[in-house]
Amino acid sequence: MRSPYSAWLRDEGLVALSGNYQEDLLEVPLQPWPRVGGAAAILNHDRSNDSNDCRIVAIAPGGELAEERHLFEEMVYVLSGRGATRVADGRGNVHAFEWRTGSLFAVPLNAAHQHFNGDGAEPARLLMVTNAPVVLNMFRSLDFVYGCEHMFEDRFDGDPGYFSGEGVLHGREWRTNFIADVRAFGLIDYPERGGGGRNIQLTLAGNSMKAHISEFAVGEYKKAHRHGAGAHVVILDGCGYSLMWRQGAELARYDWRPGSLIVPPDGWFHQHFNTGTEPARYLALRYFDNRVFTADGIPSSNLSTRLGGDQIEYEDEDPKVREMFDSARAAAARGGR
Ligand SMILES: [Fe+2]
Repeated sequence: MRSPYSAWLRDEGLVALSGNYQEDLLEVPLQPWPRVGGAAAILNHDRSNDSNDCRIVAIAPGGELAEERHLFEEMVYVLSGRGATRVADGRGNVHAFEWRTGSLFAVPLNAAHQHFNGDGAEPARLLMVTNAPVVLNMFRSLDFVYGCEHMFEDRFDGDPGYFSGEGVLHGREWRTNFIADVRAFGLIDYPERGGGGRNIQLTLAGNSMKAHISEFAVGEYKKAHRHGAGAHVVILDGCGYSLMWRQGAELARYDWRPGSLIVPPDGWFHQHFNTGTEPARYLALRYFDNRVFTADGIPSSNLSTRLGGDQIEYEDEDPKVREMFDSARAAAARGGR
């Protein structure tokens, strides 16, 4: 049965691109989307269509998108270009901030906002992850989702420094509203997932959706794990590949480089491999918190499958995982892929 969200896509004249992988987000073909005032593509793979979606929206040189407000959350990563966003608070003030390639921010829930391209010669390309599917499927009312006047002041109270890039660190979670460049953002050691990894968890604009930045070392790969749907993983630096598989099924390989996207399906194991000569870094834009926690507060995706969790420790993995990595590294060293 067609969901209210998929019916809405059809009514907007959009065809969602399905699949778990895009080799190059800068090359995804776009189509006009009158509502947003730009050219866009919707990525909504078959296993996350009731949680979140991913939009690529281009702003013409010197142009701007339509002003809008909506009752779904919107995280924005700048794939290319530079520009500015204006956001209205509920007190009659407008907040403006500038962004460029590598910036990450979120529009506060239901705040009227507008994105501008600050370059007169080049288009800007934004990647947005929203929870529009769950919101549209729940309310089934465009008038409400796009026309509600409530301001969520517990998330955005008009603080003039809201988009300054300041934040607060809670454990390994950075709560902020704007990061100038996620490619250069400082990370914290994260040995639990292996691979010589570091990461930081992100909460933007008080959202229920979450994000994280991860990096792992040259000559390493991370441990396989699984969790719920809706993690959109954008490769920022490095080259390598990921394996994704449903338990008991064949391992599928997806090669990546900066600008690639992978979206692990709900409950599928996935595992990331660095075959390059520099650390590999990615940004994951997720739906809510898709992890399950044990009674001790440990994410199940960090707990060994031997203990009932959802992470495969190195010593438990299929031997062909290591064999494939060794041959991929050898091929990369020879100049192949
Ligand atoms: Fe994951």
